[in-house]
Amino acid sequence: MTRKLAAGNWKMNGTRAALDDLNAIVSAHGDPGVDILICPPATLLTQAAALTSGKPLDIGAQDCHSYPSGAHTGDISAPMVADAGGRAVIVGHSERRENHNENNDLVRAKAQAANDAGLIAVICIGETLDERENGQTLDIIAEQLKVSTPDTATADNTVIAYEPVWAIGSGKVPSLDQIREVHDFIRKLLIDRFGNSAQGIRILYGGSVKPGNAAEIFAVSNVDGALVGGASLKESDFSPIINALEATA
Ligand code: PGA
Repeated sequence: MTRKLAAGNWKMNGTRAALDDLNAIVSAHGDPGVDILICPPATLLTQAAALTSGKPLDIGAQDCHSYPSGAHTGDISAPMVADAGGRAVIVGHSERRENHNENNDLVRAKAQAANDAGLIAVICIGETLDERENGQTLDIIAEQLKVSTPDTATADNTVIAYEPVWAIGSGKVPSLDQIREVHDFIRKLLIDRFGNSAQGIRILYGGSVKPGNAAEIFAVSNVDGALVGGASLKESDFSPIINALEATA
């Protein structure tokens, strides 16, 4: 069975001082029963990867360009992430979709670029509040999943993160039934497309996961871990979430 995954997305937070929290997370989880991934800002990738080298915690990036190199000022490519010691890259986060007009086709190209560089693509999908209130959630999820996921996706190179846009950073969390409905739906779509091996593709829930709600979310079927923003910045918040996931593994 694939191991569960506790992933942290530091977003545009953290200078070198934040590496103390990374150290603390590493120290607190010497032999974790789940996979742990931290995605710091690009400026910290190399140092974070060096600091965690040989430890049971992987480092990832928050985005990559779809091309391996070229005239793209300000961007970083998937081979650069791999060269820095990264093992994964988040693609299609709703903040990228919103702030940088990223669409499903571009997200798929980035996921493909990540896989081509030997990285795991953490592909984010999720509906807005308007879409949920209009009853469009499953249609939106189906379309995002279909177009954003490369045909070559496997359990080894792909993680799906279901992140309702309205739950990110808001303190609002869907009901457990709402989470179950979407996660079961994603699993079915993955199996329809990729066959039974898609049972192993991890489906993370993301959006206001905290120490206080992690255990109940992790008990939901087809929730294989979490993508955590705010609560991944401090060891004291992230450790209890890792522990709650371990308790279900
Ligand atoms: P949050 O962010 O945990 O702060 O809601 C989650 C995410 O955007 O990945």
